Amino acid sequence: MTHVSTSDRVFAKNFAIMLGALVALACVLFVLAQIVAAQVPTEDRAEIEAKKDALGERISPVGQLVVADSSGSAGGMTQVASAAVDGKATYDTACAVCHAAGVAGAPKLGDKAAWAPRIAQGADTLYEHAINGFPGTVGFMPAKGGNVSLTDDAVKAAVDHMVKAAQ
Ligand code: HEC
Repeated sequence: MTHVSTSDRVFAKNFAIMLGALVALACVLFVLAQIVAAQVPTEDRAEIEAKKDALGERISPVGQLVVADSSGSAGGMTQVASAAVDGKATYDTACAVCHAAGVAGAPKLGDKAAWAPRIAQGADTLYEHAINGFPGTVGFMPAKGGNVSLTDDAVKAAVDHMVKAAQ
């Protein structure tokens, strides 16, 4: 098999040229991809983020549903804070144990007199006390009701649920 025909050599040469061209093309495409990727402007990135956020809102309607049906008038504060979490469900599982019956001085759900001065402190203070815990004058409110696995938003939604019940 030592004989190499002219056509074989021509083929080998063309093949090598083709191969070289393809490698070069791959390199060009790679460089081009880098350039394009680097040029996606920050506004577009912001737009992509915004789209992701909008998608997140669309696929987590649970909180909105609860907000809408737990009372006729959904307060603005409530809507913002409980966009993705079910305040009543969190209250039922993590807070009702004390707040339903008023255990150890906990202000009872729906007890307007007990809640009015607390609500007057402002939502941020209530959130802060519920999330981080609060050694009050009547009793001791444990951080997140003792359920540290709750997210801050879940606790806020539960606070909103209690505040609403006392209004
Ligand atoms: C172990 C009992 C217990 C559990 C569980 C509990 N709380 Fe409390 N909470 C209290 C007590 C007691 C107080 C009153 C403290 C005081 O003012 O002396 C209180 C007060 C509060 C206040 C009022 C804070 C203020 O500044 O006046 C909020 C808001 C609150 N709790 C939210 C929650 C939320 C939300 C949950 C569930 C995630 C929860 N609590 C679970 C016992 C509890």
